Amino acid sequence: MRIGFIGTGSMGGMLTKAFARAAIANVEIVAFNRTPAKLDKIVLEYPAVQKMDSAASLGKTSQVIFLCVKPGDVQTVLNSLQPCLTRDQFLVSINSVWSIADLEQAAPCKVVKLIPSITQESLSGAILTMYGSRLTHADLELMNSLLQAISFPIAIDEQQTRVSSDLTSCGPAFMSHVLQSFATAAERQGNLSREQADILVKTMIYGLAKLIVEEGFSFHDVIKRVAVPGGVTAEGLKVLEPALDGVFDRVLTATRLKQTEHETHK
Ligand SMILES: NC(=O)c1ccc[n+]([C@@H]2O[C@H](COP(=O)([O-])OP(=O)(O)OC[C@H]3O[C@@H](n4cnc5c(N)ncnc54)[C@H](OP(=O)(O)O)[C@@H]3O)[C@@H](O)[C@H]2O)c1
Repeated sequence: MRIGFIGTGSMGGMLTKAFARAAIANVEIVAFNRTPAKLDKIVLEYPAVQKMDSAASLGKTSQVIFLCVKPGDVQTVLNSLQPCLTRDQFLVSINSVWSIADLEQAAPCKVVKLIPSITQESLSGAILTMYGSRLTHADLELMNSLLQAISFPIAIDEQQTRVSSDLTSCGPAFMSHVLQSFATAAERQGNLSREQADILVKTMIYGLAKLIVEEGFSFHDVIKRVAVPGGVTAEGLKVLEPALDGVFDRVLTATRLKQTEHETHK
């Protein structure tokens, strides 16, 4: 099977490289980018990725076409692809602005919408998946097994895209901001170097992720085990709880409003 990536910027580049690293048997990777130099770098590092000279040549020969351009560039790419798209191909879009219905109207293909996350750099983390009406059960299995090579695919309803993306796609930035602030405060107050504070926070978050994902701890379990009544953690939580009250509601509102703005200017 040949999979093709149109747009090898931040997300498209990451996905192209992730699939190259995953080296799935019988899967060939091709890519096309508007500015060729950006793709040249990827091909140099990952010779398994073949460079195509146009979106149309990629579209003619790829069974799965990943559309990894910004929403405002989608129509241009669709225009170049239009003559060569068929009902047997998968058209996979990674932006949250174009709906499945829009894409199904624009192309005869089996439409898939994905929300990737920077965590696919480490071949892990969630990819949110939404499948259009033209996919058969076998198509769903094919896409899921492809995506499992680089991620943990999680199916959502299209209406849940914004809030789910906030958790899985924006989440790494939100949590990194929180962790960075934590390390900065420790550096300020604890006679620690920046490097020491960072390594302590990083090893903590890695261990916490394993505890939650591999050992099945809930967030509540972790809090209960660490914040024993009368202890120092419980005292710290007394500061954290009121400070965080409503913060994430405001974060989710802000991203929702920004998304609406993007949809208006699609
Ligand atoms: N960044 C994230 O964390 C994230 C997460 C989930 C989803 N997304 C979504 O992913 C999409 C891409 O975002 P991004 O951050 O990867 O953007 P980006 O870094 O700007 O990458 C877009 C790429 O598309 C290329 N491109 C534009 N028009 C093209 C055309 N007609 N033919 C071929 N290539 C073309 C651009 O080429 P040039 O080199 O010429 O600019 C650029 O390399 C967006 O819709 C975004 O919402 C992003």
